[in-house]
Amino acid sequence: MDDGLFVSDVAGTASTQETSEVLSGRAERDREYVIRPARTSDVSAVVELMAPLVDQRVLLGKEKVTLFESIQEMLVVEAADSAEVIGCGSLHVMWEDLAEVRTLVVRDDWLRRGVGHAILAALLERSRALGVHRVFCLTFETEFFSRCGFSVVQEPPVEPDVYAELLRSSDEGVAEFLELARVKQNTLGNTRMIIHL
Ligand SMILES: CC(C)(COP(=O)(O)OP(=O)(O)OC[C@H]1O[C@@H](n2cnc3c(N)ncnc32)[C@H](O)[C@@H]1OP(=O)(O)O)[C@@H](O)C(=O)NCCC(=O)NCCS
Repeated sequence: MDDGLFVSDVAGTASTQETSEVLSGRAERDREYVIRPARTSDVSAVVELMAPLVDQRVLLGKEKVTLFESIQEMLVVEAADSAEVIGCGSLHVMWEDLAEVRTLVVRDDWLRRGVGHAILAALLERSRALGVHRVFCLTFETEFFSRCGFSVVQEPPVEPDVYAELLRSSDEGVAEFLELARVKQNTLGNTRMIIHL
């Protein structure tokens, strides 16, 4: 294990740099990657990052228009030497105290170097800044999320009145969260997990 930044370090940095939201792995002079808000010009790279996982049915494919529409929800990770996008992750707010981590991806050659934890920490920091203290995910990566403090839940963790309100959403991810029959095939084998911040 190297000395890349981990959850608490990154979150601490994020809270003091909320305006730029630029976080770096390792010390500034020796950084390997930078986490920053996504730009519209990153969408093609994000589609490429997602493609193998969509083929494996680990992630659900997203139309480019959906990625553009939700660009403000996304952070990307840029390799410091090449400026290539090597990771991404989004935070989608669902309700007053509920958000979802989506599209958390790290490129194959960057796995197991702390990048995934760093993006997740930055997304959770965003959630805290928004006043949202329950963050949900639907994932095959249960060990990764458990290590980051998430626990498995069986049912959508919302009160019936909120459930009824969420039914009004046209967002595909919200339908998956609610386990609606029409999207059930999208979520087969996934585990629903939640963290209380
Ligand atoms: C989940 C995912 C984002 C994790 O990315 P990652 O960059 O490999 O994550 P990390 O490196 O932070 O952590 C992975 C493991 O590497 C290990 N690790 C972290 N930093 C390390 C380092 N510097 N050296 C050696 N090992 C390290 C950790 O022990 C960690 O183990 P854990 O998951 O049991 O905690 C990645 O596997 C992925 O893209 N999965 C497919 C997409 C997906 O399913 N996303 C989630 C649903 S949206």
